[in-house]
Amino acid sequence: MHTSLVCSLNGDSYDPGTLQGLSKAGKPLLARYDLDSIAGQWSPSAVRSSTIRSMWKFFPVMPVDGPDQAISLGEGDTPLIPATRRGPFAAFDDLLIKDESFNPTQSFKARGMSAAITRAAALGVQTVALPSAGNAAGAATAYAARAGMKCVIFVPEDTPPANILESVCGGATVYLVNGLISDCGKLCRQACDRFGWFDLSTLKEPFRLEGKKTMGYELAFDLAEMRKTSALQLPDVILYPTGGGTGLIGMWKAFDEMEQLGWIGSQRPRMVVVQAEGCAPIVLAYQQGQTSAPLFPNAATIASGLRVPAAVGDFLMLDIVRSSNGTAVTVSDEELMFGVKELAQWQGIHAAPEGGAIWIAAQRLLQQGWLHRNETIMLFNTGAAVKYNHLLRADGLKTLNHQSPTVLDDIKP
Ligand SMILES: Cc1ncc(COP(=O)(O)O)c(C=O)c1O
Repeated sequence: MHTSLVCSLNGDSYDPGTLQGLSKAGKPLLARYDLDSIAGQWSPSAVRSSTIRSMWKFFPVMPVDGPDQAISLGEGDTPLIPATRRGPFAAFDDLLIKDESFNPTQSFKARGMSAAITRAAALGVQTVALPSAGNAAGAATAYAARAGMKCVIFVPEDTPPANILESVCGGATVYLVNGLISDCGKLCRQACDRFGWFDLSTLKEPFRLEGKKTMGYELAFDLAEMRKTSALQLPDVILYPTGGGTGLIGMWKAFDEMEQLGWIGSQRPRMVVVQAEGCAPIVLAYQQGQTSAPLFPNAATIASGLRVPAAVGDFLMLDIVRSSNGTAVTVSDEELMFGVKELAQWQGIHAAPEGGAIWIAAQRLLQQGWLHRNETIMLFNTGAAVKYNHLLRADGLKTLNHQSPTVLDDIKP
């Protein structure tokens, strides 16, 4: 394994051969690879001709010696879907949707958990524990089951029932907490210290980020394939629904790695953080010109993945938004559910509320002139609506009496 670990704040080195959490400075650790030597042996054409049908086709920049070490359920390799130019989507010339609901356990959390549990298993971990907004719980349960590990989960008591049931069904021990994910995180930390479990909290172990970064590699290949060119391509803009921010930070890391590998140039997409009005710590800090984000008070949104009032990677996200000339915007709960409907009705994409938020944000930024209709704009749908069935309403359902001879009179074509 070519991996080393450095503190994201001060660059201090840490041993990748032992279990690691945050750095001594209390900041996330980042995996580093010997990219110069990897560049000599690995190329985009090797990726294209790989027979691996998952994110592990990028294994030279992952924490393994070879792809056979991966705890994998086929995560990644998700479709990049061009939006059909109908209805409200006709306002965009080149809108693309990276649909992460195709992942195992139906969300992008599978990527992070596959990588983190692969590394934890290699280092002999027997029990993992994590706080979750819901989707990470389902993913951790599945990969822990695959690795033969025990999994302990702390979730807010109003976490979507589908996520809770999925974890219980998969054999995880699930604790419902009368608080937010930040409260769950504190309890999880204390429990890990007391019982010797390994803490898989977002960015508090180094390898979930490595799994999420594969979205950055993948989209460059997807876009090149779509444009029928061998040179890897990045979009002009990426809109990302941001909670803990692992995906955003991971994609940015992937772009830097690809540049060091000589695969892309220095051009970067403008990165857009999208949060819910009721929980927008990064948006607020961005607007106020701050370099870190204070705890967002009374966090509340039905998009459970966005209900993260404080994020350990706050300073990294703010730096990415600013250095990419991106921006940060909020969407209300009512709007994001409307976005879910529009994606389903015009695109056939049954998105998570977090994905609905992204589509609404894209329209708003276009109206404001921040986005331009001819730009290549990539939206991330990070999860599946089926996990949020409790939020959907069966308005307009019609019933028919099949025993009545006049039943067809009720149908108004
Ligand atoms: C569907 C969905 N989208 C987005 C997020 C936020 O992801 P991140 O923590 O990478 O910012 C989550 C996190 O739970 C999620 O479940």
